[in-house]
Amino acid sequence: MSLCGVKIAGVGHYAPPRVVTNEDFERWLDTSDEWITTRTGMKRRHWASQDEATSDLALRAASMALERAGLRPSDVDCFIVATVTPDYYFPATACVVAARLGAKDKAAFDISIACSGFIYGLTVASGLVRSGVYRRVMLIGAETLSKILNKDDRSTAILFGDGAGAVILERSEGNSFLAAELGADGSRPDLLYVASSGSRKPIDRAALDSKLNLIHMQGREVFKFAVNKMIAATDSALAKANLTKGDVTLLIPHQANKRIIDAAAKYLAMPEGKVVINIQEYGNTSAASIPIALSESVERGMIQEGDVIVFVGFGGGLSWGAVAWRWAA
Ligand code: ACO
Repeated sequence: MSLCGVKIAGVGHYAPPRVVTNEDFERWLDTSDEWITTRTGMKRRHWASQDEATSDLALRAASMALERAGLRPSDVDCFIVATVTPDYYFPATACVVAARLGAKDKAAFDISIACSGFIYGLTVASGLVRSGVYRRVMLIGAETLSKILNKDDRSTAILFGDGAGAVILERSEGNSFLAAELGADGSRPDLLYVASSGSRKPIDRAALDSKLNLIHMQGREVFKFAVNKMIAATDSALAKANLTKGDVTLLIPHQANKRIIDAAAKYLAMPEGKVVINIQEYGNTSAASIPIALSESVERGMIQEGDVIVFVGFGGGLSWGAVAWRWAA
């Protein structure tokens, strides 16, 4: 079967206006700007207001991507939202976003694989375009993690932010998708999960009292796993693409902790200028972090035709993935 080529035709991002600084947490948690900065690299994060849902953020990022690509919503054949904070358990947030954009009767579905959502989504969306099923697919990573944060738990409250990033994938003569490496190990869901959120332990009064409906994470374990998997997934995606680390122009990693990014970048021999870091502004926005970083990089003119980009992420599942991508304007 001969495959079509795919490229990114437009990117966009959005974060809600409300900013929560490290100093803000000092008001109600036993923490400090110094601890948060040195342990995570985070300074600020954006939190949605009470009446702002994930689709509101997704809609803004999607609209920016459409505008930059010079396309109308009806030009897109399929909408995918990667999120663990959907508007509803069902219907899928992608259905809501497509309808609100005014795209009628298009395919729409969500991907739920936590912070690896954009990497998995990019692989799936590229496959839909390359196989000829669709001409254009909109992929949006969007999260309102502040809604499932235990604001009294200093080990997680400070880490997460809200935002959305969108890309429009389009059939093209050349081919930007070079290779992907995806993986998951679900043997320890408790390392990073919302214990009472689905059929295993439906939310009841006792769960609410124990805050089991909010994020729980064993940070130290996740940290070690994250560094190892970022390195292994990047190496593997590059090997599949017949590329070496030296061929990489830009590494766009999931923004979970600057120390994780630095450790992986060091092993991968990526100098500072080749690694995109915006964690100081957004914290960890899960599936939104990589497309926000990509959109900002495009905005700042950091990406040129032919550049090799590696997108790499990890998160709840546990899950991980990397995609090697050759940029085409
Ligand atoms: N302020 C002050 N002290 C704190 C804070 C805080 N905000 N949070 C934790 N501490 C304390 C701990 O209680 C502990 O105190 P103790 O020694 O008295 O017990 C001490 O700091 C050290 O705790 P550690 O957990 O060892 O700190 P560490 O250096 O590992 O940093 C962190 C914690 C930032 C959570 C780190 O482990 C991390 O980034 N882990 C990975 C997180 C991650 O990548 N998550 C992915 C999420 S993706 C998704 O799918 C949603």
